[in-house]
Amino acid sequence: MRPLLLPLESLVYGPSYGWLQYLIRSPQPLDAEATWQDITRSLPPVVDWVRNNWPLRPLRPLLLTAKMKQDHVLGIAEHYDVSNDFYELFLDKKYMFYTCADFHNENDTLDQAQQNKADFILNLLDAKPGQKILELGCGWGPMLKRIYEHTGDKENLYGLTLSKEQVAYNQQHNGFNVEFDDFITRDYEDESFDSIYSIGAWEHVRPKEIAPLSKKLFRAIKPGGRLVQHYFCRVPDPLFASAVCSQIYFPGSIGSPYRAHIKAYEGAGFRITHRSIHDYRPTLRAWFDNLAANRDRALELVDVQTYNRFLTFFPASWSFFDQGYGMLVRWVLQKPME
Ligand SMILES: C[S@@+](CC[C@H](N)C(=O)[O-])C[C@H]1O[C@@H](n2cnc3c(N)ncnc32)[C@H](O)[C@@H]1O
Repeated sequence: MRPLLLPLESLVYGPSYGWLQYLIRSPQPLDAEATWQDITRSLPPVVDWVRNNWPLRPLRPLLLTAKMKQDHVLGIAEHYDVSNDFYELFLDKKYMFYTCADFHNENDTLDQAQQNKADFILNLLDAKPGQKILELGCGWGPMLKRIYEHTGDKENLYGLTLSKEQVAYNQQHNGFNVEFDDFITRDYEDESFDSIYSIGAWEHVRPKEIAPLSKKLFRAIKPGGRLVQHYFCRVPDPLFASAVCSQIYFPGSIGSPYRAHIKAYEGAGFRITHRSIHDYRPTLRAWFDNLAANRDRALELVDVQTYNRFLTFFPASWSFFDQGYGMLVRWVLQKPME
């Protein structure tokens, strides 16, 4: 079946999609270094040409629309509800961030780099005790932890996630007010938060949802408050190969181009007061190395296909950023006083 699916899926969705699925379906755990080299190497010009030109352009929107019909909420839960112990094998120990860190130099460990990122975002938030703060897509609560370390105020911190395992983790380990809910469809009370932020969750907001969600969040923030964002934008408009391959890892989700975000924020009434670009690649390599180093334990916690899926996810994402198709941006969006 696996050798048959390779040409079939390559024909329908292009060679990158077919090849990644072929690797993931291997009945054996993939060899780590060979997988990294295989996925990140420069493609011969002819393969690159096929990748960029197949499937034919008129078919692409139809194929992508069909793939995007996969349940978005379920797709998110599937990615995160693997096993908390599995994620612990490759994320930083102190916070458990599953988002891009800031490696200031080659000697920074993953833990140091995540501390750097947490401090950077804390500074953008300018969080103070007594402020009501909400995180959209809070994961295992890493940034809530950093804010709590700084303010000592747990009561006013809130988080939302679509992973039941993350809700349970936050309750058991952190005691934060974390709820299972979709931050896109949720109703927010007007002017109820001093700040709202998200780290690595806005990638899941589909293009048509960006503008209405920005307006909804604008209303939910108090005058003078802010929305702080960290996520990657697609540059340029989605290349079919990367868009369809991302469906393997996040069924039903697709990010939007940089311009679409600016339009949505400004259209909602926010003033953009900070924008910075960060490099995702060292974090992806660090997670990959940690997962490979913990292969045996990982295979006790998850099945071979799940292990292979993550082992291909990190180099495929690395290539996406290395080739300039993704740009990790942090934003501060200020709601004016009036
Ligand atoms: C990449 S993780 C990032 C977690 C955390 N912010 C961090 O820095 O580690 C993305 C998070 O967004 C959540 N998420 C994605 N879309 C969501 C939605 N529509 N509603 C609620 N949570 C969502 C996922 O459940 C997950 O917790």
